[in-house]
Amino acid sequence: MDFFLKSDFEAYLVGGIIRDTLLGRKTHDIDISVHGDAIKAATELNKIIRGKLEIHKDFGTATILKNRTRIDIAMTRDEIYPKPGALPQVFESDIHGDLRRRDFSINAMALALNRKKLRFLDPFFGMKYLNERLIRVIHPKSFLDDPTRIFRALRYKNRLNFKLESKTEKLLIEAVWLRVLKKVSKQRILNELKLICKEKTYLKTLKDLHHYEIFEFNMKKLNLIKKIPDDLKCYYFLSLLEDKFPLSNEEERIVSNFRNLERIRNTLKSAKINSDIYYALHNVDERVIKVLNRLYKGLRQKIRKFYRLRRIKPIIRGDDLLALSIKPGPIFREILSGIHKMQLDGLVKSKHDATQIIKKWLNVS
Ligand code: CTP
Repeated sequence: MDFFLKSDFEAYLVGGIIRDTLLGRKTHDIDISVHGDAIKAATELNKIIRGKLEIHKDFGTATILKNRTRIDIAMTRDEIYPKPGALPQVFESDIHGDLRRRDFSINAMALALNRKKLRFLDPFFGMKYLNERLIRVIHPKSFLDDPTRIFRALRYKNRLNFKLESKTEKLLIEAVWLRVLKKVSKQRILNELKLICKEKTYLKTLKDLHHYEIFEFNMKKLNLIKKIPDDLKCYYFLSLLEDKFPLSNEEERIVSNFRNLERIRNTLKSAKINSDIYYALHNVDERVIKVLNRLYKGLRQKIRKFYRLRRIKPIIRGDDLLALSIKPGPIFREILSGIHKMQLDGLVKSKHDATQIIKKWLNVS
């Protein structure tokens, strides 16, 4: 701050840092808006801070990372939304435009880091709503312009233990009815869901998603989320939804495992022989196996057995089948898994035995 107080940059502390400081909440994220060359301001500031400077030329923004603190520096800008849900067209503006484009009153306060004196800017009565503990949009089109604010409103409401201001709540409900979230990319919605699940008050917000009919899902099944580790909660929640989200293969697998959790549990429960135990879990993500282990005491012994079975190397591999002049094809997989199962169940112990069995099979079929 000292740097800006002594420099000629027209800079402002904005957004979350002001809100959180006024609420007496700790934050490691600092947003600074600069009227003018934000990258230059960041570069000069970093000469003093000596953190890690990341410059995003295309956006005219920069980030300085130092220990746990993150400073985002952007030029003061306004936005126009060409159509609901689309990404905004951004253009340079003064601090008033910069505050006007924001989501909620409590997020639209700024502190001018002026050479002579600090000046507090609060054109949308952020202080008033902070005192009244209300989330209030700055203008009636806020949720239509950027429907992700529906998620943000609920996230802040629960995080801060605020309420939605009554008009804001009506606008939110109206936006949901108008299906504005259909206009937002699934990636952006996924980002919001991930942010929600990172919060301490995630459960309240997920229940709100149901209450406000943003997503339909089985509320009874939601309860289990309390027992799911933090880093997997979001995937568990996604498994309750019918919507498809852009996930990595690993994420997709975890979601699908959660969707089938009951089935996996039952298959494992009724597994009697080693190969049944192995095949009940061999396609289940490691982290979901840990969840099963944590949730269901009765399965622990079988899970431990699975870990042991997993270490057993198959006696027969593809190369061995080629050596027996078997042509690669679906039969390969059938033979390999057949022998592997027998091996797990102790029915074949050596490569020689296995080869004999395969030869017999081939003669029969
Ligand atoms: N903002 C907005 N509309 C959005 C996202 C962000 O108006 N859809 C504005 C808000 O003024 C917000 C600021 O951009 O304060 C920074 O966004 P973000 O970092 O997501 O929020 P923070 O306020 O820093 O809150 P958090 O504590 O959740 O990081």
